Amino acid sequence: MKPRGYVPDQVDLDYIESLSPPAAAALLAIEAAAEPLDVPIVDRASGRVLSILASGRRRIVEVGTAYGYSTLWMALGQPPEGRITTIDPDTARTDLARGWWRQAGIADERITVVSRPALSAFADREPVLDGPFDLAFIDALKFEYADYLTALRPRLAPGALVVADNVLWGGAAARPGSRDRDTQALRDFSAAALADPAFSATILPVGDGLLLAALR
Ligand SMILES: C[S@@+](CC[C@H](N)C(=O)[O-])C[C@H]1O[C@@H](n2cnc3c(N)ncnc32)[C@H](O)[C@@H]1O
Repeated sequence: MKPRGYVPDQVDLDYIESLSPPAAAALLAIEAAAEPLDVPIVDRASGRVLSILASGRRRIVEVGTAYGYSTLWMALGQPPEGRITTIDPDTARTDLARGWWRQAGIADERITVVSRPALSAFADREPVLDGPFDLAFIDALKFEYADYLTALRPRLAPGALVVADNVLWGGAAARPGSRDRDTQALRDFSAAALADPAFSATILPVGDGLLLAALR
């Protein structure tokens, strides 16, 4: 009999890993560079999900680039004519990201970096952020997630998908004892997104929690 409510463990995750095609060399290079410096990037399972979600979505916007790991997963999943606009004020990180995107064979014109804090870039109506976007990936300041979504809303195409990382926040979001600003902001963001009638939304327990919201 099949177990009900089964919670996957490391053996299951290793099994999934063993079935997955090897990650591109540039992705492995980013993982190796990020780890010793504690540069926060999505985990590989989340990267695979992002890559699949990006397939068929030509116009993507990302808030929070870092070393461009999630950007590259999405670029590899997009059709070749796909375009990504990714926002991060940290040019030391995004300059390195460009090298790894090139290593993976992604043409420079496919990825535009906006080197500013996202909310001010949205407020100033940077033309590259006009949209409309088919997918938006949110992965920057946790206490600003709700404001990113507010700014993104008018820039989404019909049927667009919004994805946000870290909504489980290492288990803190689900545990009432955690009351810090980021945890509370993530709880409020998830509750609002899942209750919003404009979206059909859920949280995948992948990595640190991936919220998916499809514009109805
Ligand atoms: C979690 S990392 C992004 C990781 C990336 N999405 C990945 O998985 O490869 C968050 C990034 O957000 C950037 N960031 C910080 N403040 C920001 C802001 N106001 N607007 C946009 N990005 C910001 C940081 O510089 C950092 O590189």
